[in-house]
Amino acid sequence: MRHLNRPPKFPSVLPDGYHYTDEAVEFDPAVHLQLEPPAHTLTLSDLGYDPSAIETCPTDFAVSSAVRLLSDEGVRVMLGEARSLRKYAVNCERIENMVRGGTYQSRFLKDFCLCDEVTGFISDIFGTAVAPHSMPLHLGHLNYAPDDLNRAVDKWHHDTLSLDYVLMLSDPNHLDGGNFQYFMGTRDEAKQIAESGQSIPEERAVSPEFPGAGYAIVLHGNMVVHRATQLTRPAERITLVNGYVPLDTAIDDVCRFPDLSLVDPHHVLFTEWARHKAWLSMGRLQALVDEIPFTDNRQVITQHLKDAIADIETAISDINDTEDASMIHYGD
Ligand SMILES: [Fe+2]
Repeated sequence: MRHLNRPPKFPSVLPDGYHYTDEAVEFDPAVHLQLEPPAHTLTLSDLGYDPSAIETCPTDFAVSSAVRLLSDEGVRVMLGEARSLRKYAVNCERIENMVRGGTYQSRFLKDFCLCDEVTGFISDIFGTAVAPHSMPLHLGHLNYAPDDLNRAVDKWHHDTLSLDYVLMLSDPNHLDGGNFQYFMGTRDEAKQIAESGQSIPEERAVSPEFPGAGYAIVLHGNMVVHRATQLTRPAERITLVNGYVPLDTAIDDVCRFPDLSLVDPHHVLFTEWARHKAWLSMGRLQALVDEIPFTDNRQVITQHLKDAIADIETAISDINDTEDASMIHYGD
């Protein structure tokens, strides 16, 4: 049964090593937002997913055409924030330069990523109620162009969370290359193509049009395989990815811990993972309290209890797993 959890709260205390600096501009939705809905959207079945795969998802929404999120002034201030956060950039197998945890370092970025107006707008596009992600590491993730032009800005992959958007802070029309693309197909097809040593064929890679900076593609990130192509001329290219959680916690969580354990500081990640999984279990425990049937069937009752705390069991096992992790992607 559908059961909406209450939205998670942003932590009231910052992790060690993170702090806000004085910022000249406070985020003001009336000035910095310009919300304009997409002209069209695709569903998961448009990409070839069958009903059995779709029914495990919070929504059958797959990907939107460009939506406007930031006004020109919003872009100007956010670009300034992103440039000043770049000194914290780290890299991983997929992306050469990225900043995570920026919402612990920029109030402007945090307030934008948590903004109720944006969340309502994005919920309407997803077609399901969402909240800004319960793990702040998944809020306001910033990607920067690689220094090595031979590298794709980001390889073909699906996200380690289910719902997000990719917002252009640089105007893509001023770049040579660096196109955001998604695959007109399923994850299994992308996997088969990669395993056969082939690249995803050009005719199945869609490059949505972005009218300018401040526009985003809304994405069912763990279902839609996507990438950013190589830049062919050095340029500043900055994108902002904001993650969301469905409030319906009956849906199985798709967030992947191993990929994150390779890139995120453990003193932040372990705590965020514990909070995230506890938040999911709270929703499921509340559903159990509200809806568990009267029965003398021990197995049925025990299964209800196990399902409600499954996320917490997963978090305990993930956090105690000291084996080397690996990152999933499908190459350039
Ligand atoms: Fe992604």
